[in-house]
Amino acid sequence: MNINQAFDFSDKTVVITGGSDGLGYGMAQAFQGAGASVHVTGTKPADQYDRDYSQLSFHQLDVMHTEQIAAFAESFKEVDVLVNSVGAVLYKKQEFSRAGFEKILTINLVGIMDLCTSFLPAIMATQGSIINIDSAASIRPSSGVPAYSASKAGLKHLTKALAQRWGRKGVRVNGISPGLIPTKMTANQTSSSEQEEQFARMCPLGRFGKIDEVAGSALFLASPLASYITGHSMVIDGGISI
Ligand SMILES: NC(=O)c1ccc[n+]([C@@H]2O[C@H](COP(=O)([O-])OP(=O)(O)OC[C@H]3O[C@@H](n4cnc5c(N)ncnc54)[C@H](OP(=O)(O)O)[C@@H]3O)[C@@H](O)[C@H]2O)c1
Repeated sequence: MNINQAFDFSDKTVVITGGSDGLGYGMAQAFQGAGASVHVTGTKPADQYDRDYSQLSFHQLDVMHTEQIAAFAESFKEVDVLVNSVGAVLYKKQEFSRAGFEKILTINLVGIMDLCTSFLPAIMATQGSIINIDSAASIRPSSGVPAYSASKAGLKHLTKALAQRWGRKGVRVNGISPGLIPTKMTANQTSSSEQEEQFARMCPLGRFGKIDEVAGSALFLASPLASYITGHSMVIDGGISI
């Protein structure tokens, strides 16, 4: 293996669901910078975001609708890397109602299962890999968000189950478990300097994570350097889950 070429993704097709913003958008920029042709999804039309998608292909997708997932996946013959960064959370006790609990399980777990199975033929065609973004909440539940925490623990196990089943098909399935990183999803926990200081006191590395620190691990897991790694979720949380 030529180590210098391990992060060259020229001629590779990368699909990042939930790449409209946040961690997914950061990973999209990293793969695009490494030469890949990158597709991202968001729930709204591209012109409703304050992001530059000119170097990416943008697709509208709501994973609550299984027929949208099927149609999106069928538009690809070959995919080298599928990153599922789609994720949602409901605050203010909404996840304690059945409707709220089901919604989050549907987006964060059922929707991602649907994406993985729908894209399997295209990923098998390249002997590629899948990366599911779970969370440090899969290790220790986040307070007040039971559906989010349960869905992420489920997603981590789903990653292992699919890795077990699809290894012989030549498809690797891995995950990333981020800690706390400022994005729109976490704005209510990361916006003030008091919140930052409080988190820094608890976190062994003493700060929030950065989007680039997740993107680097995604490149590694998708690269030939990780060719014997499957069913693994890489914890990128500054040690907060220790
Ligand atoms: N930031 C963190 O600290 C952190 C920590 C642990 C895990 N994570 C996980 O990392 C992933 C990315 O989160 P983020 O922080 O980057 O948040 P974000 O900026 O809110 O991104 C979430 C993405 O998921 C998409 N999405 C939400 N509901 C959807 C639906 N029903 N169908 C399709 N797409 C949907 C969003 O689309 P729209 O832009 O259209 O809403 C967006 O593209 C999530 O799975 C999250 O749970 C994040």
